[in-house]
Amino acid sequence: CLLGIDIGTSGCKALLAGLDGTVLASRTETYPLSQPRPGWSEQDPADWVDATRRAVGALQAERPGLVVKAIGLSGQMHGLTPLDAAHRVLRPAILWNDQRNGPECAEATERAGGEEALLALTNNRMLVGYTGGKILWMRRHEPELFTRLAHVLNPKDYLRLVLTGERASEVSDASGTGLFDTRARRWSDELLRRLDLSPDLLPPVHESAEITGRLSASGAALLGLPEGVPVVGGGGDAVIQTLGSGVIAPGEIQTTIGTAGIVACALDRPSDNPGGRLQVFCNVDPAKWHCMGVSLNAGGAMSWFRGLAADFAGGDAPSFDALVARAEASPAGARGLLFLPYLFGERCPHPDPAARGAFVGLTARHGAADLTRAVMEGVAHGLRDIFAVMEEAGIAPGIVKASGGGARSRLWRQMQADLFGCDVVTTEGAAEGGAYGAALLAGVGIGVWPDAATAATVCRPVTRETPDPEAGAVLGAANRIYRTLHSALAQASA
Ligand code: XUL
Repeated sequence: CLLGIDIGTSGCKALLAGLDGTVLASRTETYPLSQPRPGWSEQDPADWVDATRRAVGALQAERPGLVVKAIGLSGQMHGLTPLDAAHRVLRPAILWNDQRNGPECAEATERAGGEEALLALTNNRMLVGYTGGKILWMRRHEPELFTRLAHVLNPKDYLRLVLTGERASEVSDASGTGLFDTRARRWSDELLRRLDLSPDLLPPVHESAEITGRLSASGAALLGLPEGVPVVGGGGDAVIQTLGSGVIAPGEIQTTIGTAGIVACALDRPSDNPGGRLQVFCNVDPAKWHCMGVSLNAGGAMSWFRGLAADFAGGDAPSFDALVARAEASPAGARGLLFLPYLFGERCPHPDPAARGAFVGLTARHGAADLTRAVMEGVAHGLRDIFAVMEEAGIAPGIVKASGGGARSRLWRQMQADLFGCDVVTTEGAAEGGAYGAALLAGVGIGVWPDAATAATVCRPVTRETPDPEAGAVLGAANRIYRTLHSALAQASA
């Protein structure tokens, strides 16, 4: 069988898949996230390793006797794991959702020669949270440690080092450092030169399905597996989970409603990224690229609303299912009520930390069902709004493959079908996130499937919603209003 390991933000998921792509078992072991100062977000890399040991151990106890043929790695992107020359961890890892490096990201953009120049080098902006800005942060704020900094690795690549002894990365996670020439699929030596960073800090980069090493004696002992099992490159979670949802051909769009919302697809060429509003990365398929927009407001907005309902009731929060059942009682369009979900500022399509949320069009006849439905529709409008940026880049929707916790809701899937105007399916394994994509890619690495596109065909549809023309017309009209609200409200809350 195949083993996929995902180093997530809240825990490590290990997953066993059969050589036909069936999910056999999966197990998550959690670890803490520390916020030593407001806006900081750190983790101890030793916790990733220990959680991996526990998760893989638990899987083996559950399914004894299975022979693991290959391992694939997935992980939270943009993290900085700082190592000295002897591969010792110098300080806690700084994670993707850490907000401390705004000034250094601005510095990186300026040193690159401005935003256009940076886009010409990497096809991406240096977003707050990207690894590149974090290296500059260490140089400025921890100069002592910086003199000892010999290597920088993304979280899953640190696990690879522990498992195989190899310092290596692959193109999708490297893209998320902001230092990678995603068009040429190699480090941008020119950007490193302009930032005055040594290329030796960064690991050699492979294509994602390549075998980057084999389990060492200590790696094998850690996982309780035989020495020599091949470990393939794998991918950054946001990229490799598109493979785990079977999103690889033109027209296939993945939407994810987790805390944040993601709209993603594969591209046949590294299309331009005007204004850097999207994230255009290398795909785990060597012939493809990956395009995504991330909204900071999806399931998180619904959680806020649930909490509010509990506050009003002075009791426990209603279950997610109970809330959704309530929303079903309101018609498409929530009787003219719109919700702008920018509760945590926004990233895409509006890179605006000062963006604010709102209910718009509220009247006394709106009840709890309408407000709930409006919150869900607001999130769906947000996803559609991201996709509008992709449409400008010439991408058309053929089918939406929904994933994340929000994909459990039939109503939320139907809203997406109505707003995107195409079928919305959920696929087998998609709920397992990056770990499933990593297991599939491990299979590609050892020849179970000839390529990622063939591996993606095992992701069979489980549910399907088709667009309802009437609801589509209502939501389409609402969407046109929704799009005007960010700038209208920017003036109101300025
Ligand atoms: C992608 C992103 C997140 C992290 C966390 O750009 O920021 O998906 O990878 O999982």
